[in-house]
Order: sequence, then structure tokens, then C-alpha cells
Amino acid sequence: MSNSPTQIKLIQPDDWHLHIRDGEVMKDVLADTARQFARAIIMPNLKPPVTTVDLAKAYQSRIESNLKSLGVSDFTPLMTLYLTDNTSADEVRKAKTAGIAAFKLYPAGATTNSDAGVSDLKHCHAALEAMQAVGMPLLVHGEVTSSEIDIFDREAVFIDTVLEPLRQQFPELKIVFEHITTKQAAHYVRDAATGGKNTIAATITPQHLLMNRNAIFAGGIRPHNYCLPVLKREEHRIALLEAATSGNARFFLGTDSAPHAKGAKEAACGCAGCYSAFNALGLYAEAFESVGKLDKLEGFASFFGPDFYSLPRNSKKITLIKQAQSIPTELPLGDATIVPLRAGETIAWSLV
Ligand code: DOR
Ligand code: ZN
Repeated sequence: MSNSPTQIKLIQPDDWHLHIRDGEVMKDVLADTARQFARAIIMPNLKPPVTTVDLAKAYQSRIESNLKSLGVSDFTPLMTLYLTDNTSADEVRKAKTAGIAAFKLYPAGATTNSDAGVSDLKHCHAALEAMQAVGMPLLVHGEVTSSEIDIFDREAVFIDTVLEPLRQQFPELKIVFEHITTKQAAHYVRDAATGGKNTIAATITPQHLLMNRNAIFAGGIRPHNYCLPVLKREEHRIALLEAATSGNARFFLGTDSAPHAKGAKEAACGCAGCYSAFNALGLYAEAFESVGKLDKLEGFASFFGPDFYSLPRNSKKITLIKQAQSIPTELPLGDATIVPLRAGETIAWSLV
């Protein structure tokens, strides 16, 4: 591949971290994702959360009926369960048998719809032991929640106080450190000793590759650039970009596209979440191109995720072309609207 290609072909990517919500709005956001990705890990932070296999199966059939009414037959949702203080080892084993892809750890109060999250991991001992035994991945929202800890330090403190002790206690547990945002997280995952086993990985969002925390305050408050974990300093963005484009299979694509209606973002207490699904692949291509590493995009977007989850890689190919695309200022979201990431701007890469 030349240094400045105008077209790239790659095996179709998957999104290893996605929110599609439920009800009226699901169809709109699902259409954007299914246009680009073959599969996606579906986050379970609904209200109420998806805590059991039965709830996940019911959610999956609502997703499938929306896909059907969109005329989509080539997209697979990968279902997850929301870990709580009360998740039993039996539910973990049942989930494995039912084909649930992973459990998600939300520290209670860390983010959108996380009130039912885990108050202390010591309550989850039996469930974690079962996950380790059956090879069920644990996806972690890696932030401590205590209000004394500065919001910009919550991820780094989580590594020392939660993640490292968890890995010591369950060395064979497969963990995905989701939507990492700091140099500390990128280096922790890169350097973690695993004895050659596939036990740690991280997803990285497009917004954390393309923006630093100035983007939340550029000329005024920018609610559509606010997500959790919050954007960090430039040195962290650079470390994430380095990790994503390094060719290291521990880092792969997860958009964390998190739809909230315009009114819920542009409010006195606006919700956290960036809606990147509209042209997520174009955004990632821009990030990789910015450091001359477009040749590393396919591994990050299409290979390392399925390899970590022990799923087959996709076989279909897609093409991205360097052709400017305007991002609409708003998109339909049920009976409301949503403001996508980079609304009203032009981005360089589009999916053919
Ligand atoms: O910004 C975020 N939005 N971060 C999360 O962890 C959750 C997500 C959501 O569900 O809106
Ligand atoms: Zn998320």
C-alpha cells in the first residue's frame, strides 16, 4: 500500500463495543452500524439492564426483528450480560451454553444506566471464577467512581486499584479493557504479562483517537464531544493512536457509539456519549491516515477482535475511498433527532 492511497480494501470490520438502546430508536442506530460492520458487541446497559440470559435472548429477538424490517440479513448482534453483585456462577454457565459473548462490568454509578452495576468486585467472586473456568470474557468499564478522585484520573486509578488486583486473582480470565483513554491504560495493556495467553485486550473509540479534552471546551461547551471516560490531554491521545496503529493484536476497534437524543445532550445535565456510528469507519481511517498507518487499519478493525473472542474472521471485503463526505447536522432518532460526531463537518473517507 502506498503512503497516501485514495482507496483501501479491507475485510469487513466488526464493532466490539456498541450501544443500540431499545424501542423506537433502535432501528435508526442499527441501520448505521449494519451498513459498515458485520457484527457488534451489544452493550447491556438498558433500563432495566440485561442481567440474565432470558433478558438477553428477548433483547436479541427485538434486534433481529428490527434488522428484518430494515431488510438487513448480514449483520450479527453479539449479546452481553450486565454483571451485578448478584450474578450467579450458574447464570455464567448458562450464558456460555446460550452463546452469550461476554459479561460487562460497570462499576456502580460510573456512567449511563450503571446504577445497578457492581458495588464491589468481592461480591462477584463466584461469577468471576465461573467466567474464568468457561472462558467467558469480562468487558470492563475501567473507571473508579469515588467522587474524591479527579474525573481525569479515574481510569489510571482503576488500573492500580481494581484491574491489576483482579488480574492477579484471576490470571486466566479474559478481560477487555473497554474504550481506553489514557497513556497508562495503553501501556498497561501493551506491557501486561500473560504467559503467552490471550487474556487482555483493549478497545479504542474514534473520538479518543481524534480529539483531546480541548474539544469539549472549544469556544464554548460542546456537549456532543462529552463521553465517559472523558477525553484526556493530547499526550494520551497520541499514546492511544500509537497503540491502535502499532499492529499489536491486543488493541482493536470498539466505537462505544452511544446514542442520546439531541435534547438529552444539550441540557443543563447532559448525557455522556458520542454518536459515531454514522461514519465510524471513515473516522478511524482519518485517524490512521494522520500518522501514515492506513496499512494497520485492517488488523485493528477486522482481525484482532475476532481473534481475541475466538470467532472466525469475516470473509466479505469492503472498500473505503478518499472522497469527502458531509456529516449531517442532525439525523432521525425515533421521534427525536441525534447529532452525530463531527456534525456539519466534512470528513475525508467514506465507505463505498
Ligand atoms: O459516554 C458513554 N456513554 N460512556 C459509557 O460508558 C456509556 C455510554 C452510554 O451508554 O451512553
Ligand atoms: Zn459503552
